[in-house]
Amino acid sequence: MRNSKVPVVTIDGPSGSGKGTVAGLLAREFDWHLLDSGALYRLTGLAASNHGVAFDDEASLEVLAEHLDVQFEPTEDGLKTILEGEEVGVTLRTEEVGAMASKVAALPGVRKALMKRQHDFAMAPGLIADGRDMGTVVFPDAPVKVYLTASAEERAKRRQNQLQQKGIDANFDQLLADIIARDDRDTNRTVAPLKPAEDAIVLDSTRLSIQEVFNKVIAAMRQQGMI
Ligand code: DC
Repeated sequence: MRNSKVPVVTIDGPSGSGKGTVAGLLAREFDWHLLDSGALYRLTGLAASNHGVAFDDEASLEVLAEHLDVQFEPTEDGLKTILEGEEVGVTLRTEEVGAMASKVAALPGVRKALMKRQHDFAMAPGLIADGRDMGTVVFPDAPVKVYLTASAEERAKRRQNQLQQKGIDANFDQLLADIIARDDRDTNRTVAPLKPAEDAIVLDSTRLSIQEVFNKVIAAMRQQGMI
């Protein structure tokens, strides 16, 4: 059980929809806590790879997820993520670790083990929770739920631009194929699949700027009396 007095805004959607950016902006705007739940699945995948645990060994992965030795330390440029004493911020964002995360995330035991850890982020004055099942499973009573999406082509283009800015030349067709494969795994798994909550506001960022999405979420928060 979580402390339901703490106001929560959930932002779910596929990777590359812009939800991480919007969630970060909202948390900064109100000085609220931020839960990047994808990072917890990425950390579990990375820890499994480091310890040589197979991605279908659900019992061992559940234990690993429950006992993840992780710290999030605030720094001037955001959060520093430390797994078992090692800074893993950059490694965590790679496509390779994203694919590991998507595999471990399909296992009910892993999702159960990460539930309490996610609820613990709900602290005053409020929480912005970013993920795939924040509004449907983890915080179903959140007063404002957003489902942010964008076409797969647009998301692949954004990913390619991000990589190019880092000097990495990525093949568009490969990126698109990876995005479609990951969407397919996240949407069609039996446990906590990626889908909008019934009472979610659905926004398509293919044709909306981040600022427009941000403004729409703020309007919904105001309408709910959260701010
Ligand atoms: O948001 P992200 O790309 O960091 O997420 C990595 C993977 O973790 C993604 O493929 C699906 C999974 N995930 C999940 O199943 N549930 C969440 N709440 C967040 C992420």
